Amino acid sequence: MQIGIDFTARHVVVFGGTTGINFGIADAFARQGARVTVASRKQENVDAAVTALRAHGGQVCGVAADVRDFDAVGAAIATSVDQFGPIDVLISGAAGNFLCEAKDMSSNGFKVVVDIDLVGTFHVLRQAHAHLRRPGASVINITAPQSFVPMRYQAHASAAKAGVDQFTRVLALEWGEEGIRLNSISPGPIDGTEGFRKLMAPTPEDREFARKQVPMQRFGSLDDIANLSLFLASPYAAYISGALIPCDGGGALESVKPALEAAGNSYRGTLGSQG
Ligand code: COA
Ligand code: NAP
Repeated sequence: MQIGIDFTARHVVVFGGTTGINFGIADAFARQGARVTVASRKQENVDAAVTALRAHGGQVCGVAADVRDFDAVGAAIATSVDQFGPIDVLISGAAGNFLCEAKDMSSNGFKVVVDIDLVGTFHVLRQAHAHLRRPGASVINITAPQSFVPMRYQAHASAAKAGVDQFTRVLALEWGEEGIRLNSISPGPIDGTEGFRKLMAPTPEDREFARKQVPMQRFGSLDDIANLSLFLASPYAAYISGALIPCDGGGALESVKPALEAAGNSYRGTLGSQG
């Protein structure tokens, strides 16, 4: 169930927007009439997302770009702005993750997650800044509960997403006077997504345990995150900036932590396999 807020002719750019939670966000804006740009690494993911989004009859631009590559991100944004004009809504949600204890993690394993999640977010926002509509643009970074609830096997993602959170707050200070708002959304366990499968539900037993840990006793849906994104990007949220908003059924209060640790226990049983 999606809320209805008109985004007709607004330009919405979603990095990491070709699958999962971020695709759900792109899809929601397309349904509300927005001109949507999606970007991610794999051309096949970009092509599939563009085809699916065009089914809503709107204008869609897809670009393949790795957020670790500053120039490629700049080129992707230039392409989208050439087609659809200044950016009204920017979503930065590209991420990579795997379960691994810090003592077993290679330097490159730690670095790859920080490069995608944190440095990638810097690249996206830095390259988009000149093209954001001012006043009025809304920037949403997708963070995760690991940024503020320490979790085993998540040293890389916890550090990277904590960096994303503070980066969001600093830019809310720096860009506020230009009329640009920045916020972050921290999704709980969102059913059917890659991050959920990898981190919380490697087995049916882990999945059921994880569900019971959520105070509301259910996993989240793509619509749960998309609805918050629509609201945050809308004039109804015109005075909200610098906020980190969990959308997690209350899970971040503490109870997602044991669920992740249970998944980690399964993972420990399969040490050596690459996720
Ligand atoms: N356990 C331990 N180390 C791992 C690992 C795992 N399961 N998976 C990858 N690594 C390490 C690799 O060994 C490598 O380090 P090394 O060079 O020292 O051997 C490093 O991480 C980079 O791996 P690589 O496969 O070259 O990176 P990539 O850029 O192709 O992929 C990932 C990035 C690893 C984050 C990959 O999981 C990915 O693309 N994820 C995107 C989807 C995703 O994770 N979605 C969920 C979002 S929450
Ligand atoms: P997902 O489907 O794997 O989404 C990740 C997206 O990022 C994909 O479109 C992927 O496409 C893209 N991507 C990955 N690396 C990239 C790179 N280097 N450059 C450009 N794009 C890249 O995972 P998800 O679970 O929906 O997660 C989406 C976001 O929600 C992430 O920020 C994650 O941390 C956050 N989150 C998820 C959950 C959950 O329950 N799923 C919970 C909390 C937070 P390509 O492979 O084509 O690049």
